[in-house]
Amino acid sequence: MLEALEPQAPDALLALIKLFASDDRDEKIDLGVGVYRTDDGATPVFKAIKQAEQKLVDIQESKGYLGPEGDIGFVHALMPRIFGKNATMNGHIEGMQTPGGTGACRLAFALAQKAGVGRVLMGVPSWPNHAQILADVGLEVMTFEHAKPDGTANLDALLGALRTAGEGDAVLLHGCCHNPTGVDYSAEDWAAIAEALADSPVLPVIDTAYHGLGQGLDEDVAGLRTVLAAVPEALVAYSCDKNFGLYRDRVGAFYVKAKSSEQMDAILSNANALARANWSMPPDHGGAAVRLVLRSEDMTKVWLDELESMRKRLRWVRDRLAQADNEVPGLDLAPLGRQNGMFAMLPLDKDQIQKLRDDHAVYMAGSGRINVAGLTKGNMDKFIGALADVTG
Ligand code: LMR
Repeated sequence: MLEALEPQAPDALLALIKLFASDDRDEKIDLGVGVYRTDDGATPVFKAIKQAEQKLVDIQESKGYLGPEGDIGFVHALMPRIFGKNATMNGHIEGMQTPGGTGACRLAFALAQKAGVGRVLMGVPSWPNHAQILADVGLEVMTFEHAKPDGTANLDALLGALRTAGEGDAVLLHGCCHNPTGVDYSAEDWAAIAEALADSPVLPVIDTAYHGLGQGLDEDVAGLRTVLAAVPEALVAYSCDKNFGLYRDRVGAFYVKAKSSEQMDAILSNANALARANWSMPPDHGGAAVRLVLRSEDMTKVWLDELESMRKRLRWVRDRLAQADNEVPGLDLAPLGRQNGMFAMLPLDKDQIQKLRDDHAVYMAGSGRINVAGLTKGNMDKFIGALADVTG
């Protein structure tokens, strides 16, 4: 029976972690998978999370099961940060904890499918796992161009796709810090998107995995809030991997905006059933630590400071790359300074990406995506030199 299974290639992004680890050159640079790094190249546990974890050891009395919704205190503690002061929009928003943002995306699309969605409009390129999840759930995908060649968002492509869509369609939007391009919609774009969705049966699914790493905590979800204010129903997938540094602890949340509390009960009962069948309940530890951080003024301040320093460092890297425009005549690096978050796409071909790896020990995704957080004051000049070499 099992011999019927064809071998599958390992996930290309995750495979890069191993490839990089097995390279013994001292000067190697990891621009692969999306983990934040300090200017020393480290990915330390957040100070706020350490404090919360220590407190958790002292106060946690049981590790008995929770329900499929996970730690609802964690889910609610995040809500004002995501949705603003009226965090439930007068009782129209509720959520559940999920195993990371991936679990939240999975749950959102499985639920959408159960509700009758058959097709998802998706700007490309997108995070490669989006397509994998959609295929695995069994949803059809209709793609449109996310970005224009000048490095800004292609609003017309999205609006055009929405015009052709109807009942049974959903649209996947990235809340901020678009993965893999770094190209976000402007406030005016979001207003136009909200207007288009308000008059459309298309269900918005907003994936927000980099909240706080772009322009600021409120700024990064301003577009999401504009859409949610305009539409009767929406789904939100949220990740704490990056903004709380909890990658391997798998901490995420899934939120629903529903038309009424009766519908909310029915929707969440379906989401609970899907969660139970998939993972039963999410891992608790990281979500509990986030809850403690967000319920403590002192720890929240430590967290906000950490997030701000990450944001500033990412901005420094982007500005430096944008300034290097003249040093790499073959590449237009200037747009990177106007984009957000951890990722950017470099228009390099396969040979150039391979040459960067072979000759310069620079590792990036095969798509040309770089994680700009892998660049530091110590390796920036080497990277810019390597780019000039392969594009010259
Ligand atoms: C990435 O895109 O590198 C991150 O979101 C990590 C992942 O799971 O792919």
